Amino acid sequence: MKDDAVPDAQPPASATNGARLVIAVDGPAASGKGTLARRLAAHFGLPYLDTGLLYRMVARTMLDAGELLDDTEAAAATAAGFDDTAIDEARLRGREIGEAASVVAALPTVRRALIDRQRRFAAGGAGAVLDGRDIGTVICPDATVKLFVTATPEVRAARRHKELAGRGEAATLDGILTDIRRRDARDSGRGDAPLKAAEDAVLLDTSALGVEEAFQAALAIVESRRRG
Ligand code: DC
Repeated sequence: MKDDAVPDAQPPASATNGARLVIAVDGPAASGKGTLARRLAAHFGLPYLDTGLLYRMVARTMLDAGELLDDTEAAAATAAGFDDTAIDEARLRGREIGEAASVVAALPTVRRALIDRQRRFAAGGAGAVLDGRDIGTVICPDATVKLFVTATPEVRAARRHKELAGRGEAATLDGILTDIRRRDARDSGRGDAPLKAAEDAVLLDTSALGVEEAFQAALAIVESRRRG
């Protein structure tokens, strides 16, 4: 799997002080968890995995093959067999693929087929940062630090609207808000590994925070947890 860590502000070589550090970042769509997770990974010099891309890849591969998203056997075979070194993020980012990913992610066979890839990633050397919906609850229940990142649906819709506009994808704010509410309901309401905060997760509401403020808040949580 591609190591997506982009070392930005020159992390100190000893950012993790030699101790393994696994950071689980969960939260609903457009909560800002991806931006935070990526920055934390860069700061600590750790590899980063956006696990949503795995579900998006399953959905994309099925749609490309003309398969129906509720075909559980095809979905399980796709999830078990796709090449995760070939993930092309640009093709997976659109609004429709997010929705399709949420549909296949509700299938227990798909979730089961993706567990090992994610756990292997987290098991590497110095640790890792993973973001998703079930990282703290299922994939890495022993993560050093668990963050649950939220923001109000309205704030998330506004962020997603700006992001889509930047990519030239037309969508109304109301349409995006409806999408987000539907996705929240599906991701939180499914029986298998639903979106929810682990009992030992720290809640970070980014509704009123800018990107830098949210990062500083997340960093403070990580540092305080590491100090124990
Ligand atoms: O984080 P994202 O928007 O790229 O995720 C797309 C969908 O994939 C999301 O609506 C639910 C699913 N997903 C999941 O069920 N578990 C994860 N760990 C990550 C994503």
